[in-house]
Amino acid sequence: MAHRNDDAFIDALAKQGIAYVPFLPLGGFTPLQSLAVDRLRPALAPGNVEKTMTAPVTAIIAYDLLFFEKLPKLFPHAPGMRDLFAQNPQLVEETAKRNSSLQGAYLIIAARALGLDCGPMSGFDNAKVDEEFFGAGKECEGCEQEFFPAGHVKSNFLCNLGNGDESKLSPRGPRLAFNEASTLL
Ligand SMILES: Cc1cc2nc3c(=O)[nH]c(=O)nc-3n(C[C@H](O)[C@H](O)[C@H](O)COP(=O)(O)O)c2cc1C
Repeated sequence: MAHRNDDAFIDALAKQGIAYVPFLPLGGFTPLQSLAVDRLRPALAPGNVEKTMTAPVTAIIAYDLLFFEKLPKLFPHAPGMRDLFAQNPQLVEETAKRNSSLQGAYLIIAARALGLDCGPMSGFDNAKVDEEFFGAGKECEGCEQEFFPAGHVKSNFLCNLGNGDESKLSPRGPRLAFNEASTLL
């Protein structure tokens, strides 16, 4: 990455974002470097291959379906919270997805604040990424997943980070006006 030394700073900034319950890291930001990026290639939509292969860093924004095991440490003032989630898989999934999306947005804001360009992407096959990097569908005793060995981490979206070539960046898309997007009650 052009600003490799900024990684820890970006992570520190992104951690300050609001979360419904602050169970960070939710699977975290997983910077993929060098050969690991090649393993992403088969999962990418055709239109996302070149930009990802030429980006200095691609992060997989993911969520951990066992995040609640960390709540006794991260949310100590509400001891019942772990059990509340442990008994409710639907709430786990909803909460984990919501919070990992927030975390991804904070990552983008933090990286942009440092002058980096960000290319978030949902054009990829989540199941392939989960299988390749997060041990999806495998009993993980002995399997070779370097990041999250137990197969309970799922990808949300990818984000390329770096310094885009301005001559190739598309113009910004139109935005809805306030009263088209919001209703005052
Ligand atoms: C969650 C999300 C998923 C996206 N998926 C893709 C994608 O798969 N491929 C792509 O080229 N752009 C994708 N985009 C859009 C670009 O990464 C980028 O945000 C957009 O082109 C910037 O335009 P804007 O400044 O008008 O928002 C996605 C954006 C978001 C927020």
